[in-house]
Formats: sequence, C-alpha cells, structure tokens
Amino acid sequence: MSPHHAPHHVLGLNKYDHDVSAVLLRDGVPVAAICKERLTREKNAGGAPDVAAGYCLKAAGIRLADVDVIVQNSYALNVPELEQDLLSRVHALHMPPDERALVLASPLFRNRGAVTISHHLAHAYSAFAPCPFDEGAVMVVDGVGSHRRDVTEDIPAANTGHSADRESESYYVFRGTEIECVGKQWLRVTPGTLSEDFTKLPGLGAVYSRVSEYVFGEWSKCGEVMGLAAYGHERDDLPPLVGIHPGHEGADSRDGDGDGGRTWALPMWPEWLCNPWVPPHDGGLTPAQEQAAWEASPHQQEWRDLCRRVQTDLEEALIERARRLHEATGMKRLVIAGGVALNCVANTRLLAETPFEEIWVQPAAGDSGIALGCALYGELVVAGHPRRYTMGTDGLGVRYAATDIDAALATRFVAACIRSRRVADVAGETAKILAAGKVVGWFQGGAELGPRALGQRSIVCDPRDAAAKRRLNATVKHRQEFRPFAPAVPEEVADEWFEPGPASSHMLFVRAIRKDRLAELPAVAHVDGTARLQTVVREERPEFHALLEAFGRETGVPVLVNTSFNIKGEPIVETPLDALLCFLGTDIDVLVLEDRIVEKRGIPARMRRFLLELHRGSGVRDRGFSGS
Ligand SMILES: [Fe+2]
Repeated sequence: MSPHHAPHHVLGLNKYDHDVSAVLLRDGVPVAAICKERLTREKNAGGAPDVAAGYCLKAAGIRLADVDVIVQNSYALNVPELEQDLLSRVHALHMPPDERALVLASPLFRNRGAVTISHHLAHAYSAFAPCPFDEGAVMVVDGVGSHRRDVTEDIPAANTGHSADRESESYYVFRGTEIECVGKQWLRVTPGTLSEDFTKLPGLGAVYSRVSEYVFGEWSKCGEVMGLAAYGHERDDLPPLVGIHPGHEGADSRDGDGDGGRTWALPMWPEWLCNPWVPPHDGGLTPAQEQAAWEASPHQQEWRDLCRRVQTDLEEALIERARRLHEATGMKRLVIAGGVALNCVANTRLLAETPFEEIWVQPAAGDSGIALGCALYGELVVAGHPRRYTMGTDGLGVRYAATDIDAALATRFVAACIRSRRVADVAGETAKILAAGKVVGWFQGGAELGPRALGQRSIVCDPRDAAAKRRLNATVKHRQEFRPFAPAVPEEVADEWFEPGPASSHMLFVRAIRKDRLAELPAVAHVDGTARLQTVVREERPEFHALLEAFGRETGVPVLVNTSFNIKGEPIVETPLDALLCFLGTDIDVLVLEDRIVEKRGIPARMRRFLLELHRGSGVRDRGFSGS
C-alpha cells in the first residue's frame, strides 16, 4: 500500500421500517456495525438511521463527508420514493411526528449520492460477499422483500408478473464477486398496501410469522415457534400451511418460474386458530404474570401442533428448494440469508439432507444484515473492489475503552449500588463465580450485529444446574418454561459433549447432546434431546473461549448456558452503562465488564425499580445526527 493511500469508506444503511442499522467499511472491512435499537433502546427501532450511522462514523473517526460510497435499502418501498412520501404524507410508514421531523432534518435524507438497492439483493450480498467460499449457490428467504418494480437486479426473463408483487424467495449463483439471479418466488399484493400485511401473504417466511402472531401475539417470535414445534404432534386435521414445491403462489397464475401449476392454496384455518393469543398488557402485568397467562391458555396443545405443522412444512419446503437449486447450479456450497435463515433446525436438515457439502449462514440473517449487504454491494459493485473480507465473528460493535467503563461505574445512582474490582484473570475468577451457581452478565468487546448473543453481550450460568436455569427464567428472562437455553462450548471439545455435527459458531445449527452427557447438561437440553449450540472459536472470541476453558477446569464441564444480555422484550445491552443498569435492575448476581468484576451492594427495592426505569429510558436522547 502506498504511503499516500487514502482509506476508502463505504456506508451501508437499512433505513426506516424496522431493524434500522448501519455498517461502515474501511478498505473493505467493517470498522463498526450496529442496529439502531441497541442505541435508542426501542426494540426493532425504525425511522432515521442517523444514530446508527453516527455511531459507525465516530468509531472510524471520520465525518459523513469522508464517506466515499453510501448504499441503502428499505424493504417497504424504494428509498427515494419512500423519502418523497415522507416529505408529502404525514402518515407515511405510520412514523410518529417527532421521528419524521428527525428524518426530514437528516443529512442522510434524500442523499443524492446514495445508491439504492433492492431487499433480496442486499440479503444476497450479505450472504455471499463475506462467506468463506469462492463460489456457490445463494438462498434468500424472508417475510417479504422489495416490490417487483423496485428490484435492482437482472432476473430471469421468464419471471414476469405484476409490478406490485413482492419478493418472497430469491436464488442465485455466485463466482468470486459476480452474482446472478437464477430464480425468484413472488407474493401477490394488492397495490397500495404496505408491509404490515405481510403475515397474511402465503410466503414461507410470512406464514411462519403468521403462526408466530397466532401463538405468541407477535409476528417476530419465530424462534419460539421453532422451540414449541418439538412438543407438537402430527395432526390429520391440520393441512399443510405452506406448499412444499415453489410455484404459482397466491392468486397470480401468471407468475413465476414455477413447476407446472402446483399452487400454494391458503389453508382453511381451523376455527380455534382465528383467536390469536393477545398479550394482556393493558392490565399492566409484569413479564412473569404475562408468561403465566400464556402458559395457562387452554390452547397449549393446539399451539404446539400448529408450530410443529409449520416447522415441518418449512423444513420440507426449504429442502425441496435447495435440491432444485443444487440441480440448477451444480454448486457444492450454499450460503443463506433472510430471516428464515435463523431457523437452526431447518439449517441443520438442509446440511444433512441436500447435496450441498457445506453451508454458511449469515449470522445477521434478518434485516440488521441488510446494512452489511448494502455496504458490501458498495464495495464490490459501486467501487469495483475485489472481495477482501471474510466474516468470522459478527461482534462488529465498538469495544469500549477502560475510561468509558470507569465513567459508567462512576455514574450517579450507580456508584452507590456497586462494588467493583479489576482482576488479572477474568476468566478464572468468573469461572469460580459461575461454579458457585451465580448468574453472570458477561460484557466483552464489540456487540453482535445479529440477534444472537454469542459471548460479547451474554448472560451465562452453569448448565449442570437446572435450578440456575429456572432462576434465570424467573428473574431475568421470563421465558416460557418450554424454551431451552443454548449451550456454548469450545469448538475443539464439542464432540465430547454433542453428537457429531456441523460447526455452529453463530448458534445457527442444532446438535443432539450425547446420551452419556445428558444428565450433566440438564439446563440446555431441549425436549427432543437437541441443543441450539454455539461452538466457540478461540480466535474469534478469545475472552469467551477462555471463560469456557476456565469453567471446564473448574468443574470438568467446559459448557455454559448462554443467553442474550437483555430483559425480556428489550434490546440487548450495548454500552457499559446499559449493562450496569440492566444488572442492577434484575437478579443477575455478578457483572463482568471487560476486566472488572462488579457486585451489588444491598439495593432497596425502590432504588431498583428506579434503576430499571432508567435502563428502559437510557437510549440516546438526541436521536439526530452525531457524526457529521
Ligand atoms: Fe429481509
């Protein structure tokens, strides 16, 4: 590199609707990446991307004017069109007036230099551009993508239909930096409707989200649907919810590159399915009371059977599609993105039951990964650079400095409630605390971009202790009893504890716990004996790997329960202060902040409630641009 080399910066943005996020690349490699929700503390935050973009620019020490390329997407509409709408229509996107005011004032609003790409193309770039393979096939499946009229890629000539159709599935082949679409599956939508209706559409991801809405009262509880499916029975009166074969779904018979007219008829939903569960939030229930209300529903078994039905259908449909994709492309390797790729049970079957020899799943497979896909498109297509980044960890957040941690520890209201000490052997000391049955908040390095906590912002406890799991549930996570917690294990000893299976460094595959080990790992075994495990790679997450090894030395079991560092329904913590407030407001016993071990002094209940309120409102106050 010449001494005059000026770094090249690309900013990728997922704008406006939900999971707004930003990724900044410097010379092709991420400097920082973040989901807006982590900063504003509003789950799945939409609206202006400025806070997220500002966070990335600050991490890189540059200003917006220093960015060479901006690439953006919003799945709801083509971005320039959407921005025009936001100017003229007060109610566009149902954006609250104050958020709209921020959007309109933003230097990223109607940015003339920005390149807009369509949704599935962004997912596809997030899948293939940072993957470890030189060539392969790409599968993108999510709830809903761009309208046909907004698609910014060449699609096979035979793939025609209505301009308002929306992307449901997209298939590609890639070699090096070149990618080509080989097929798309569309959803027929009534023109003029926006994305909020997507769960009523007969797409793979959409129907799955619809079941989530029925069973859990929210479209986004797909992980819970997958977990509950293991308790369900096959039922003759429950017809397939999604078609196994891609074809002419919905009512649009002109559509697609289908296979001879097999249709995806929307099923006749059984009557009991017409009464989705509604969280009793109006009564001001605590999370524990809400959990109890859900568990008390007389529909439990029906819900389980329904989840099983949709999970089985999804798995079969994905396997069928992957086989066809293999046939069409002849590729040995497959990469996947889109929200459906977070289904680790389906991913595991895809690897086992299709001719693909290797599968790589983008860890930020949902829409937080759209910003990464946009940035990589900017790098490869707009700037014309070669691929020069292979994604290991998705811990692409900022690593906070010792001074930031000192400042957080000294915060008013916090300092009086804690004792903290710096330790030389963080892993060793934490392992001893865990072996004594404590629940630990574990904060190390930059936060994960995807939805899974993988050892940077985790809550961990002893997997040998079923009581620790119950306490974790009762005091912090408020999960339904059926949901298993995930185990983390150093990859090099995974086979001693789990049946042979794929590496799963992002918790995106499942493996059975070895029968001779089941009794030792009661807290992480699902009802079917499997675990959604994370195999931890030393080079990718050195601190977490060291903790697992130290816990192994301490107890003989190098496995920990690993769950995300957040309160139910809230975003994962991002800053040291978020972590402290979450720790103080809950029954987490000990907090490890980088090399500090933080313990509680006696905190009066009123103070605790206050700290919890502070945590809930601790998002950035000024949500405007901070990086220009
Ligand atoms: Fe998506």
